[in-house]
Amino acid sequence: MNQLALRVAAIRYEAQRIHTFELRLPEGGELPPFDAGAHVNVHLGNGLARSYSLTNAPSQRDCYVIGVNLDRKSRGGSAYMHDKVRVGDMLTVSPPANNFPLMENAPHSVLIAGGIGITPLRSMVYRLEELNRSWELIYCFRQRHHAAFVEELEALGRSKGRRTRFYFDGDAGGRRFELHGAFDNQPENTHFYCCGPTSMLSAFETAAKGIEPARIHVEHFAGRQASDETATQGGFKVRLAASGRVLDVAPGQSILDVVLGTGVRVSYSCKEGICGSCETRVIDGTPEHLDLVLSERQQQANDRMMICCSRSKSAELVLDL
Ligand code: FES
Repeated sequence: MNQLALRVAAIRYEAQRIHTFELRLPEGGELPPFDAGAHVNVHLGNGLARSYSLTNAPSQRDCYVIGVNLDRKSRGGSAYMHDKVRVGDMLTVSPPANNFPLMENAPHSVLIAGGIGITPLRSMVYRLEELNRSWELIYCFRQRHHAAFVEELEALGRSKGRRTRFYFDGDAGGRRFELHGAFDNQPENTHFYCCGPTSMLSAFETAAKGIEPARIHVEHFAGRQASDETATQGGFKVRLAASGRVLDVAPGQSILDVVLGTGVRVSYSCKEGICGSCETRVIDGTPEHLDLVLSERQQQANDRMMICCSRSKSAELVLDL
């Protein structure tokens, strides 16, 4: 689907270092629909592209709202959004995609957010309310003044009789949430969602061992790193099926960068294995999947791969390029 040219209609201060950006069509009207948990890739004017979860209700059809946490130590996407983007600016945005879908018919949903990981879960909260489905929210942040949407979510939970719990372990007297407690005494067929930093997701997945995998849902913000055991420490070859050209991918290089270096046009956005833009069909060879887009079953099929981050277990890969 074509990229969207959207105007920044509003920027709101939500908490210290967190702004939301409201994006609309310049001429007004409805945007392509999205489901709770979806994200968009925002192409920044400086050549960067970043994935951001949509945090508004899917029923709000005339705007996308993204939340951006300023991290000066990151690669510059959030600093660009905070420092350079102003109301009225135009941004190129991909249509929504969803790697973190909400199971709308679950009898109960437990949503666990760490930091800015609240953004997709806030959209889920609104969707579950629209469906009148049971939910509860656990929201962890270091300090309350850094946490967005707290009053709003607290008030919504109170007015609808939903359970909301907030943990600010960096505040004086603050408490830390023990993840294993989220799974105790829940109704049958409860679905569990977690979005936050990698350490939290690992702890969540460990605590969720024993729960049916189909009821466990996580959203990563950063791609995995190639493991040291990769079979391709010495590099590998990639054959482009269309031209028969064979390329060398050296250790530390990505397939995507090598392919782009030859002038072949390939779609890409996040370069972190989280957006799905660079998905490429594998004709021969065995990829080493390092993305966070494909499900375990899709990865086992070995018939496609994200070439921005994944590598090769075989000496050569033949790609449909
Ligand atoms: S560019 Fe986003 S998954 Fe590859």
